[in-house]
Amino acid sequence: MTPTPAPRIRPRRLRETPALRRLVSETRLDPADLVLPMFVREGASAPVPIGSMPGVVQHTLDSLPQAVADAAAAGVGGVMLFGVPEVRDARGSGATDPNGILNVATRVAVEASAGSLVVQTDLCLDEFTDHGHCGVLDAHGRVDNDATLERYTSMALEQARAGSQVLGLSGMMDGQVAAVREALDASGHEHTAILAYSAKYASAFYGPFREAVESTLEGDRRTYQLDPGNRREGLREAMIDIDEGADIVMVKPAGSYLDVLADVAAASEVPVWAYQVSGEYAMIEAAAAHGWIDRKRAVIESVRGIRRAGADAVLTYWAVELAEWIRKGDAA
Ligand code: PBG
Repeated sequence: MTPTPAPRIRPRRLRETPALRRLVSETRLDPADLVLPMFVREGASAPVPIGSMPGVVQHTLDSLPQAVADAAAAGVGGVMLFGVPEVRDARGSGATDPNGILNVATRVAVEASAGSLVVQTDLCLDEFTDHGHCGVLDAHGRVDNDATLERYTSMALEQARAGSQVLGLSGMMDGQVAAVREALDASGHEHTAILAYSAKYASAFYGPFREAVESTLEGDRRTYQLDPGNRREGLREAMIDIDEGADIVMVKPAGSYLDVLADVAAASEVPVWAYQVSGEYAMIEAAAAHGWIDRKRAVIESVRGIRRAGADAVLTYWAVELAEWIRKGDAA
């Protein structure tokens, strides 16, 4: 019997101590690379907890400033605002009303942030329509792409006027980036940036978001959001949006689409972000609440995985808590 030869190559050497592991770590988290999505409800007298997203609330206009200040104090890079209107209609009128909840909340958040983080807004009609679709419908009940673009350009102007610095175009209409860019430039808002939710998939992981914005959907979104099986098409959508003038492109959801994220990160000349969505949040919270996984480790690992795959920044509902862990040195 010849003795088993000792390995000549030993990758375990660099895993020997915490200090060495820290030194060779390829992916670090930074609070500045995190964006906190926030919900703001019209007419609420106190923050309303969202059952399927433990720890996340619908803010009121009164609770919003402190929450924005807390995010800034934690070093979070930005917030992404979503409005929850009291009244909805077929056209999503609240979205283009300067006194609509999202536009008012934007003014409040901009003032509260005092420039210490970036205030951004979701630009989509689904929170504002009674049918729950991201656009307006034609006579046959189909989402009318080009009529929706007109709604988006009006919405963009109101959001820019309210002070949003980055508009998050999440509706997946063809030509939306070009249309909004042109409208902004034509009205003196050439400095307002566009974050294109370019590769946005028709995903089951948006489930808890419906509760968060109290929206019910007639049918589904498969005629505009991407088929979860399509990888090449995700890259194509990102390239189209860059071509149309997107300042940042995004992949969404994040965790189940890391291959798409890696593809986009390899090809993009603009920053690439990823959105860890409501269902990704809910799954970890639910499993942790049962004691089935270590909550803190799972949260950190999930966001590090998204950064490792190529996201320059991550939208995550854990942004503030995670930022605090990072600052304490707990998040390696
Ligand atoms: C569209 C929008 C949605 C989300 C963010 N922007 C809903 C959808 O497209 O169905 C989902 C975010 C999440 O699930 O956390 N306004």
